[in-house]
This record gives sequence, structure tokens and C-alpha cells, in this order.
Amino acid sequence: MPDEVSRRQFAKLAGLSAAGMASPVSSVEAKPASPPRSAGGFPQNFVWGTATSSYQVEGAVNEDGRGASIWDKFVRIPGKIEDGTTGDHANEHYHRYKEDIALVRELGCKAYRFSVAWPRVFPDGDGKPNPKGLDFYNRLVDELLKNGIEPWLTLYHWDLPQSLQDRFGGWRSTETCKIFGDYAAYVAEHLTDRVKNVFTLNESGRFVYFGYGIGIDAPGLTLPQAEVNQIRHNSALAHGLAVQAVRAHGRRGTRVGPAENIDACIPAIDTPENVRAAEIALRELNAGYLNVIMTGRYTDAFLKYAGADAPKYTEADLKIISSPVDFVGVNIYSPQHYIVASDQGAGFMPLPIPKSFPHMNSDWLRVGPETIYWVPKLAAKIWKTNAIYISENGASGDDQVTQDGKIYDTDRIMYLRNYLAQLQRATAEGVPVRGYFLWSLMDNFEWVYGLNKRFGLYHVNFDTQVRTPKLSASFYRNVIAKNAAGA
Ligand code: NOJ
Repeated sequence: MPDEVSRRQFAKLAGLSAAGMASPVSSVEAKPASPPRSAGGFPQNFVWGTATSSYQVEGAVNEDGRGASIWDKFVRIPGKIEDGTTGDHANEHYHRYKEDIALVRELGCKAYRFSVAWPRVFPDGDGKPNPKGLDFYNRLVDELLKNGIEPWLTLYHWDLPQSLQDRFGGWRSTETCKIFGDYAAYVAEHLTDRVKNVFTLNESGRFVYFGYGIGIDAPGLTLPQAEVNQIRHNSALAHGLAVQAVRAHGRRGTRVGPAENIDACIPAIDTPENVRAAEIALRELNAGYLNVIMTGRYTDAFLKYAGADAPKYTEADLKIISSPVDFVGVNIYSPQHYIVASDQGAGFMPLPIPKSFPHMNSDWLRVGPETIYWVPKLAAKIWKTNAIYISENGASGDDQVTQDGKIYDTDRIMYLRNYLAQLQRATAEGVPVRGYFLWSLMDNFEWVYGLNKRFGLYHVNFDTQVRTPKLSASFYRNVIAKNAAGA
């Protein structure tokens, strides 16, 4: 499966190759940020949410002056989308957003993560804004607040304006980074009177490599590694510029941070040596994005591994990239690397993943609930952050509609129950995880898989647009109501 292949390859690009690396090690101990709370429960004020993204749910791609995005073009290339579908209609959320927000409310969610489609607001990426585009997000935000749901806004969830791809080569050029900063400033200026939390770019780790390295995401390019590394650097730069734009143009107190598919490293066995090795691995395998954002430097091992392919950058770039963030958002689905200590190189070794390792209804989505315990715990320690959000977690399931019209997705419930138990374990130990966004509110357009892979708590019939709660919707409602994992 493409995800599986590329996640492995990305790890390689990001600096994996366990044995050969050497680098200094940070040894600052993270202080538990908050005391443990009631047994089995999550901290008070824990933020429970669900998530979607613009291209995956909105549809209405030609309405109200929206410009084309790279995904509009990409989905039309024969063979690129497994089931031949597009996001042209998707969930018709653009028109059904009120109905969908009612679904969020029914779950008892306190928060909803959505993304702004850049080409709705700036049809060409830059230049003249399209007021009707912004209006949609004004309506969406107002409707959320009316329902007592906090809007969490993502600035970029992959739908780059096609015009920027055509004129500048998209993320290949720092022009796009600068224009992204302007777009972020505009969104911040107009929406942060009501939106208090902003994610910058979603999953640089995926869209850079999938889009520009192996061509299975838009814009579908297969560039040499040096260029991919440069584009990853540009994405980090764009993140930093967006952080600065939100600070300069947003209301005071607006919080901003990344939402990254962190390359997940877990100690294979819980021994002090392996835990230490997993810490090093987590830093090194995320050296190209999260680590440079959080520390302002590329690690020696990363640069050494990249060699002549290392990105070109200036000290000024690093300053922008490491503009202080208010939180770290991490998308956590599966364990990427089980780590053991090694006396070679930087001191860690990722173990091969056996073929029989269990996975959900996507080959890449391995089931490793301890991932959501270890990754925030190690991340809080190495990056000294006091606020981590799980910006995505969830699973694709088999999701058969039975004769009674219901969907008994006990597979998804199994996955969620186990992950949430491990997340609760982390918060009980004082790991500063402040919230969780379940991917996804409803089935939607799952990129390369089209409408084939279903991640929703609500089933969507894409012919009739009828939404039906799955059993997992009741499960999640119960979790939120009890503020506890053992629901
Ligand atoms: C991560 C992405 O952010 C989201 O768009 C995607 O649908 C989910 N993972 C599931 O693959």
C-alpha cells in the first residue's frame, strides 16, 4: 500500500538508518505539567473533538468563486484515485454544514477541527481575496459557536491553489511560503475574533513526500531527494511564517501550532535503555520538520545523513521556523518504529515490522495503542512542551450496513477503546496532552483511496448524502460524557 511504502521511505529521507547516525542527546527532564486526576478519567477541561478537512468534505468545488486546487487537477489524472472518485461533491458539507455541526453536537464534542480551503479565500493563492469564500468560514464558525463548539482551524490541509503550483512550482518555491504567510495573516485577521486555536500545516511529513517525492498525492511529482528535502524545509518555513502572521494579525491570545504526522517511535520493551533509544529515535526521525520547528536547528545526524542532498537554508530561516508555538499537534494512528537500544551510531535501532502485525482496514494502519502513550510522553520530554494535542486519531473499518440499517463497527470501537486507554494512562502520569480530535466526524474523501476507506463516526451514503451514526458514535459520546476511557 502506498502509505506503508512511503512512510518507510519518508523515515529514510528524514534521517532514519539507525545504526549509522551519531548525534548529541538532549537530557532535559520534562516536569509533569499537571497532577493525575480521578482513576480512569481524563483531566478536567480535556478537549474532546472530531476533525475533517476542506477538500475531503466540502464539495462545491466550483461554487462562489473558489479557485482550483492541486487536488482538483490531480484527481482527474486517470489511475491516481483508487476508485476513480473525486472531491467534487464529497460530503456536500459546503451546503450541509449546519446538519454536520448538529452531528458534532450530538456527540457532545467541545471542539471541531476543520480546515480552510485556501483557494476559496484566495482563488489564485494571492492577490484579490474572494469575500464569498471567507463568508463560508464565517458562517461555519458562527454555527459552531452557536452550538457551543470551539472551532479549531487548520490553515493548510493540502489543497494548495493550483495557480501557485503553475506559477511557482508550489512548495518548491519560497514564494509560496511567503504567500502562505499573507494568507495566514488574512485568515487570522478575519477569524480570530472567534477562532482561538490555529493549526498551521497538516502533515508536512505526508504531503511533501507523497506529493513531491513519490507522486501519489497532488501535485503528483517524483523529484530527486535533494528537492524533496528542500521542499520539506520550505514547508517548515511556511509553518514559521504562519506562526508569525497569526501573532502579528490575530487577536491577542490566539494559540497556534503544527499538526504533524509525527514519525512514531516506541520502545519495543519498556526498559530505561530502550526508552532512551526511542527518545533519540523520535528526535532524529522527526529531524526534518518537528524537531527543527521545536529546536531551531537540524540535527548533526540529519545533516550528515542527507549529505549533499541536505536543504539549503540560512540562520534567518531557522529563526522563522522555530518561532515559538503554543502547542504541538500530533496526528497519531499507528506505530511506525519499535525501537531498541543499540551500541552503534546514535544509539537506537528500529526493528523490522513482522508481516502478521495486526492492522485495521487500511494496510498501513497498524494497531499499536501504546503509540498514543509513548509518543506524547517522549515528545513532551524532548521538546519541553507543556501542551500537546492529538490533532488526529482514528481508524478505517469494514463498516457494513446491516439489514436493520445500522453499522456495528466493533472493530473501530476496539481500536479507539485501546488507544484512549493508553492516552488516559499518559494523562494520568502528567503527560501534558490537553485534547484529542477523532478522525473523522464522518466518512469522507480519503485521498488516494477515494471514497473507499471509511474513517467516520457517521456513515455517509455518498449517493443520498444520508449520515447514519455508527455504533462508534455512541461509544465516543459515552467517552466524552464520562470523560473517561473505559466507556
Ligand atoms: C491524516 C490526514 O490528515 C487526513 O486527511 C486523512 O484522511 C487521515 N490521516 C486518514 O488517513
